[in-house]
Amino acid sequence: ADGSHTPAVVVGTGYGAAVAALRLAEAGVETLMLEMGQQWDTPGADGNVFPSMLKPDERSTWLKSRTEAPLGSFLWLDVVNKNITPYTGVLDRVNLGQMSVYVGRGVGGGSLVNGGMAVTPRRSYFEEVLPQVDAEEMYARHFPRANAALKVNHIDAGWFEETEWYRFARVSRAQAAKAGLGTTFVPNVYDFDHMRREAAGEAPKSALATEVIYGNNHGKRSLDRTYLAAALGTGKVTIRTLHQVKAITRQRDGAYVLTVEETDTRGRTVARKQLSCTHLFLGAGSLGTTELLLRARETGALPELSPEIGAGWGPNGNIMTARANHVWNPTGAHQSSIPALGIDDWDNPAAPVFAEIAPLPAGLETWVSLYLAITKNPERGTFVYDTATDRMGLRWTRDQNAPAVAAAKSLFDRINKANGTIYRYDLFGSGARNFADDFCYHPLGGCVLGKATDLYGRVRGYDHLYVTDGSLIPGSIGVNPFVTITALAERNVERVIAQDIAR
Ligand code: FDA
Repeated sequence: ADGSHTPAVVVGTGYGAAVAALRLAEAGVETLMLEMGQQWDTPGADGNVFPSMLKPDERSTWLKSRTEAPLGSFLWLDVVNKNITPYTGVLDRVNLGQMSVYVGRGVGGGSLVNGGMAVTPRRSYFEEVLPQVDAEEMYARHFPRANAALKVNHIDAGWFEETEWYRFARVSRAQAAKAGLGTTFVPNVYDFDHMRREAAGEAPKSALATEVIYGNNHGKRSLDRTYLAAALGTGKVTIRTLHQVKAITRQRDGAYVLTVEETDTRGRTVARKQLSCTHLFLGAGSLGTTELLLRARETGALPELSPEIGAGWGPNGNIMTARANHVWNPTGAHQSSIPALGIDDWDNPAAPVFAEIAPLPAGLETWVSLYLAITKNPERGTFVYDTATDRMGLRWTRDQNAPAVAAAKSLFDRINKANGTIYRYDLFGSGARNFADDFCYHPLGGCVLGKATDLYGRVRGYDHLYVTDGSLIPGSIGVNPFVTITALAERNVERVIAQDIAR
């Protein structure tokens, strides 16, 4: 190391990372956070920090010359994506062969780009997925703590019924009901009071101005306004942005040494550094954390790492689909970008599905009902390290998503049948496709709790090395994952601080 030593380093600034940094700082531990993306607090020429979904510019996308939106086409036309100058933008699509994974880049990680849906999983499924974790303690303490710190709130049911901005959700609810399916309100970290003031013309519009996936300029309580603000408030935490951790080694004295590349906003390397620390927390997300540990194992830098690193990955059963409505059933030219309702058929033993009713805020009537279905797919992928390219690949084939597509199809076939409607085939790129099975928003696993780590995220084979993010969860959690990632990180870091750090 070049002499720069910190007691604790946290890699990344997403959910798991933010929890670790705040709790370490509160315990009095000087903590350095390293984030490859930028701090999103400076307005561009248009006066906004983030671009909207309908007018993406270079701020939208991580170092690519063309945007890569999840809904890539409309009437099969390539009207959605735009050419841009490569820039350290906020949303990345990591293309790993037959699966592409969307992730957020910047201080706040996924919280900058996501839909804010803040769902606590049902306890029976949590127990099925993570049987070694004390569910009693999770549901009594850590889930409530995470929900409070994330500022999770609920939409006003009366306003939901009357506002034009949620007509799309009410239409989908009525159609689900015709098929005998129930819906449930989905809590969110977007401030619903702010949204109501947007609708009333009393607050600057964000959710009601097609902002999501490339950031929200107002209303959303992303991590930079919650956990990370609290962490910085302790005076014990420093965040260095545009700092990408490339490699991890260990010195004789037990300190971890990180090779870090600092870049400019065009992605050019401006400095290469070696930083050392006593305790190292990996919160770079399912892809980022797994890649760092795989590289360390495969290059021999940390040879004692478990063979389980890289295993147990899944896309949380994510499948996107869309239906075409009859002309007498418009979904609305005005749609809030923040989902508020989900179709809950998780108790269906044949094909459990939790489908969030997603907006398609196009600014004009499309008669489209869009959904992100979360299904229960037992298939898992494995990350592998390629020595020649020094990069991580994913062993996952498109046909592994067949069980997820089948589950989504069985639910939406029922809805179509009950309503005399059909799928849309034009929204997911070229060719006729009614199910998007080649990308996900919810990457989970790669360093699974109790396998690659102990039951508290301590990495097997090395002491003072921890995983704190979505890579701990074995591929599926049945609902949108960030509340679970946050609560699990709270549980783990509490134990680690008490046993490994506090004296
Ligand atoms: P997360 O991915 O949040 O953070 C990792 C951070 O580490 C990033 O900031 C990254 O830049 C940084 N990093 C990675 N490698 C690094 C390296 N080598 N060096 C330095 N920094 C590095 N979930 C949900 O519950 N409700 C929802 O509504 C949605 N909606 C949604 C929409 C979209 C478009 C996306 C892409 C995702 C969602 N999600 C979601 C998923 C949710 O955002 C995701 O599960 C969490 O952000 C994962 O949290 P982690 O802490 O695991 O990492």
